Amino acid sequence: MSERVALITGGSNGIGEAVVTALAARGGWHIVVADIDEAAGTAVAERVGGLFVRTDVADPEASLAVVAAAEQTYGRLDFAHLNAGIAASEGPVDTIDLATYRRVTAINLDGVFFGLQAVVPALRRAGGGSIVATASLAGLVPTPATPVYSLTKHAVVGLVRSVAESLKDENIRVSAVAPGFAQTAIIAPMQAAFDSSGFPLLTAAEVAAVVLEAMDGPPGSVWPIQPGRDAEPYRFRGVPGPRVQGKEGLAPPREGASDPTGGATA
Ligand SMILES: NC(=O)c1ccc[n+]([C@@H]2O[C@H](COP(=O)([O-])OP(=O)(O)OC[C@H]3O[C@@H](n4cnc5c(N)ncnc54)[C@H](O)[C@@H]3O)[C@@H](O)[C@H]2O)c1
Repeated sequence: MSERVALITGGSNGIGEAVVTALAARGGWHIVVADIDEAAGTAVAERVGGLFVRTDVADPEASLAVVAAAEQTYGRLDFAHLNAGIAASEGPVDTIDLATYRRVTAINLDGVFFGLQAVVPALRRAGGGSIVATASLAGLVPTPATPVYSLTKHAVVGLVRSVAESLKDENIRVSAVAPGFAQTAIIAPMQAAFDSSGFPLLTAAEVAAVVLEAMDGPPGSVWPIQPGRDAEPYRFRGVPGPRVQGKEGLAPPREGASDPTGGATA
């Protein structure tokens, strides 16, 4: 197969940079690094012979522009890792200021939504492909100190699972990874606490390896990642269905969608 083309948002540092490195090591990939950190992103792209495009994922036009740049430069797009994200100092819900709420949701949630909207048509033009979003364990469990961060990551999980369902028949796989704490700049405010507790952290390279597994994995899967464990898709339990006499096991009337209760209709 001729070279494939990957787009990595947040690819200048941390997990995104590790995915760039892992794809380059595999060979056979042209890589587009999309990030607001121009200095680091340019260096990362140069190292792998790829392309850096300054991209603020909170801006829908920027997502469209970087996908267009990938297609113009390399002729197609096969894989997108929608990974850019931030954490912020939060606290009790009634103390979180509006600017923080808007910034965290704009990058972590809107960024993934705009990324999907820009990438899906390009994958369609390529005849199929994959998208992996970086959610977090905070998308599967509550994080009382950072409720907005958790909100965005839960939303990414729901978004990915929902769109995956309708795109899988077009040979477009959409999935997410849900890393625990990984050694990147985002955890800097907690570094001293991690150091003193000896809590085991993931490396960005360990997360990247699972991103590449998810790329070829089942559509709609969400992959928790923890140090020392082999990653596997999270098994969602499903929800109870209605229990009305004569209506047992009926799925809701949603054309083209599978049973959103996950089959747990008992
Ligand atoms: N490190 C962890 O413990 C951890 C755990 C779970 C999930 N995550 C998620 O992993 C993803 C990557 O984070 P990381 O840990 O590598 O941190 P990081 O800070 O090293 O990397 C984040 C990257 O995103 C870029 N970025 C920030 N805002 C952007 C924007 N508006 N547009 C484009 N790029 C932007 C940054 O410049 C940076 O290169 C994030 O979505 C984060 O929420 C991280």
